[in-house]
Amino acid sequence: MDYQTIYDRSLANPEGFWREQAQNIHWFKFPQNLLTKDDEGLYRWFKGGKMNTCYLAVDNHVENGRGEQVALIYDSPATGGVKKQYTYRQLQHEVARFAGVLRGLGVEKGDRVIIYMPMVAEVAFAMLACARLGAVHSVVFGGFAAHELAIRIDDATPKVLLMGSGGKELDKIIPYKPIVDRALDEAKHKVDHVVVLQRDFVTADMQKGRDLDWLEQLENVEPVADCVPVDATDPLYILYTSGTTGKPKGIVRDNGGHAVSLRFSMKYVYGVDADDVYWAASDIGWAVGHSYIVYGPLITGCSTLIYEGKPIKSPDAGVFWRIISEYKVKVFFTAPTAIRAIRKEDPNADFMKKYDLSSLKYQFLAGERCDVSTLTWLTENLNRPVIDHWWQTESGFPMLANFAGSDLLPIKQGSAGKPVFGFDIQALDDNIEVLPPNTEGAIAIKYPLPPGCLPTLWQDTQRFKDSYLAAYPGYYFSGDGGYKDEEGYVYITGRIDDVINVAGHRLSTSAMEEIVASHPSVAECAVVGIEENLKGQVPVGFIILKSGESISETDLQRDLVRMVRDQIGAVACFKDAFIAKRLPKTRSGKILRKIMRHIADGKPFAPPSTIEDMTVLDELKELMSEKKIGLAFVK
Ligand code: COA
Ligand code: AMP
Repeated sequence: MDYQTIYDRSLANPEGFWREQAQNIHWFKFPQNLLTKDDEGLYRWFKGGKMNTCYLAVDNHVENGRGEQVALIYDSPATGGVKKQYTYRQLQHEVARFAGVLRGLGVEKGDRVIIYMPMVAEVAFAMLACARLGAVHSVVFGGFAAHELAIRIDDATPKVLLMGSGGKELDKIIPYKPIVDRALDEAKHKVDHVVVLQRDFVTADMQKGRDLDWLEQLENVEPVADCVPVDATDPLYILYTSGTTGKPKGIVRDNGGHAVSLRFSMKYVYGVDADDVYWAASDIGWAVGHSYIVYGPLITGCSTLIYEGKPIKSPDAGVFWRIISEYKVKVFFTAPTAIRAIRKEDPNADFMKKYDLSSLKYQFLAGERCDVSTLTWLTENLNRPVIDHWWQTESGFPMLANFAGSDLLPIKQGSAGKPVFGFDIQALDDNIEVLPPNTEGAIAIKYPLPPGCLPTLWQDTQRFKDSYLAAYPGYYFSGDGGYKDEEGYVYITGRIDDVINVAGHRLSTSAMEEIVASHPSVAECAVVGIEENLKGQVPVGFIILKSGESISETDLQRDLVRMVRDQIGAVACFKDAFIAKRLPKTRSGKILRKIMRHIADGKPFAPPSTIEDMTVLDELKELMSEKKIGLAFVK
């Protein structure tokens, strides 16, 4: 069936459409309600349905003849080339045993478990073990520092924290235990236990009584044979993501909508089915890792990959192509940054040509805006469809895409495709009017959202309403700007809030500003995300010193870089801070960050009539030109 017919039907009769999709997963009890509204005006999908996500991802396949198929492949150039494979039966064994460990530590349905781990197979065992028990996991990306971890511990109040002793990147070892110990000291909430997976290149110090060895815990454990039935509306996980304040948002994913939407997207968007090999080269700490390394491929019965390494220097820029060829990957998903990094090292795609890529049917890109030059380079060299698609931690699955599994539409460079079935996506003006084609506005989606999207924020329904539903009543506001063309393709032009995307990693400039502002010499500051050739965007700080302050720019920069690294983490990539005389502001004192960004990016802008003093903009241009800040000034 063609795209338009299915799409129209999905909007005309969402409950009928999603009922059909819900029939593609195994329910212990099929939901009697499809879409219901609660007392607070929020919608829930599949209320009354009983199921278990671990059952869908693991046991169901073993029971239905897929036990000997490879479920999980672990490939780790980071640790010198370790490779391992687990069949669905072996995965079931590992998951049931780890669920036994968790149960032994008192973890029950509804309890939270924080997971702070590198890219190892055990992280998937741990997530699935939580799902088996009906416990709620919250994976924290390993690149976040102790303070960020502490915030998440206090918000999720976990019973147990699971960790690896460290990660390895090229020739660098990153010990995790000092970070976890600091976070646990800082957090008000106290966990009962920390379970540590010791890796052979770094040994974590253990605190007696609290810290337990992963492998020792597995000895003599009683595996959990059955999957605990949960309600479709029970939370499967919390994933914290950057918002527009320093406090991250706890995105809640429920069990039922999540499973249905992932099974649906694997089929329609990615065009894969059971037995296919599907690979998303992301990190387990991001939504991509949750949806398309662990749950989506496993619920579908695919073989999935956990890759521990970088796209380059692992040992070379051919590692992605080596993996596709070695494991016969059919669909590959990564971030444009990774491709830019590969292209920089291998502009003529010589490494790519060394491998047999005949298994690869589709290449998907997401996580940040994909520049046309990267898309063209990849399409020409791979010689197969390269599909840009758009989604967010909040949605958990694509909202704009092209449809490898139903009707592959012509690819328009610069557009992330057309709305995925179920998403009524519009560009709106400030009066909540739908804008005509090719007119840029706020990208918003008619509420209620399809299943799988966040029903609320962890223990903060008011923040959910304020952050997503208040600005454009009747719609969910995505935080992105963009426009639709006359054929219905949507172009995402970037965030219109204080969120930035650094190498596909979502970060908050407000969180960075809070840290920068706490430096004793800083009177005022603005941190803005400016365009950069490799990582897409990087944060830059503009600082106004307190009067009488004489700190040098070099000393200030060193202090601020250390502070942001210490409190948010290396992943923030905060490396540049400059002393400015003034910041551009409106007469009411609002800093014009967007204009600052546009000056650095060399984009046209119209200063608002409310600007306090136009000459500040010339001063800023001079500063950026002198210090070579932004693509407009480094040609
Ligand atoms: N644990 C601990 N530290 C981590 C980490 C982790 N899991 N991931 C990243 N970091 C650290 C890195 O060590 C680095 O620290 P440094 O400043 O001391 O060198 C910093 O965070 C930035 O890391 P990264 O963004 O990976 O930059 P890089 O310069 O090391 O590598 C790329 C550049 C382009 C190769 C890399 O950014 C990349 O692979 N990008 C693709 C990202 C991606 O797939 N995102 C998917 C989201 S959908
Ligand atoms: P995250 O929640 O980390 O997945 O980040 C989501 C944000 O990344 C979106 O709101 C966009 O700003 C950006 N993003 C993701 N995919 C794309 C894409 N294909 N094109 C443009 N921006 C994207």
